[in-house]
Amino acid sequence: MNTEQPIGIFDSGVGGLSILESIRQTLPNEKLIYVADAAHAPYGNQTDQQIVDHSLRICRFLLAQNVKAIVVACNTATTIAISTIRAVTDIPVIGVEPAIKPAVEQSKTGVVGVLATAGTLQSTQFEKLNDLYGQDIELITQPCNGLVERVEMGDLNGPVVTKLLQQHLQPLLNRNVDTLVLGCTHYPFLIETITQITGSGVAIIHPGKAVAKQVERRLESESQLNVEPNRASILFFSSRVSETYRLRFESLLKQPVVLQGTGS
Ligand code: DGL
Repeated sequence: MNTEQPIGIFDSGVGGLSILESIRQTLPNEKLIYVADAAHAPYGNQTDQQIVDHSLRICRFLLAQNVKAIVVACNTATTIAISTIRAVTDIPVIGVEPAIKPAVEQSKTGVVGVLATAGTLQSTQFEKLNDLYGQDIELITQPCNGLVERVEMGDLNGPVVTKLLQQHLQPLLNRNVDTLVLGCTHYPFLIETITQITGSGVAIIHPGKAVAKQVERRLESESQLNVEPNRASILFFSSRVSETYRLRFESLLKQPVVLQGTGS
């Protein structure tokens, strides 16, 4: 292992770019490799076995790129596949989970909403989070079918995604949630549209910064942080490549992107 090796980050699609943004702000010297498993997105409605198989395939690809850590920038893959991933590698594997703990700590009404995929909300890992932090508050979960697909299509504020969000958010607003957990890494790209519906009185929590800090702590504890300046780079891969999809990366990240295929 050496500190110049890249950090691998993956998601079913472009959602994990919301985590990549936080990682590159927190760790500006690191080389990053981002993989979108677009050929198999969305993960949220697939069986546990399918999600484990997809995640392992992407992790093998990242390991072949000689990464020093893997960030599972997907709540669904984290809750369902992270223990299987950890069993196939010794390098640090950092996941993303719905940020229920900070939401509970900051809620004043004691009513917290969680937006996530059906896969995340049905997982035993989510049940554990709920048991751990959701006991003294009212935790209202909302499976958000359709949202990942809209973000993958680049629809962040059009009439279709706005209507979907209204449908998903209204039951939570009816119960007076004051804090909303974004339990899917695609959803931070919808924050503006979400806030237009909820108004500014609802705090929105997404775990990008906390995940980036956790990556920093893990690499530091293994003496793997890259402290050399001017070595940073980002490579982008997808299991399905097209010009439209490359442009999607560019418009979400607001920078030029070269998108390569993973070959599987
Ligand atoms: N970004 C993924 C997550 O955080 C989306 C999962 C999916 O593809 O359904 O859960």
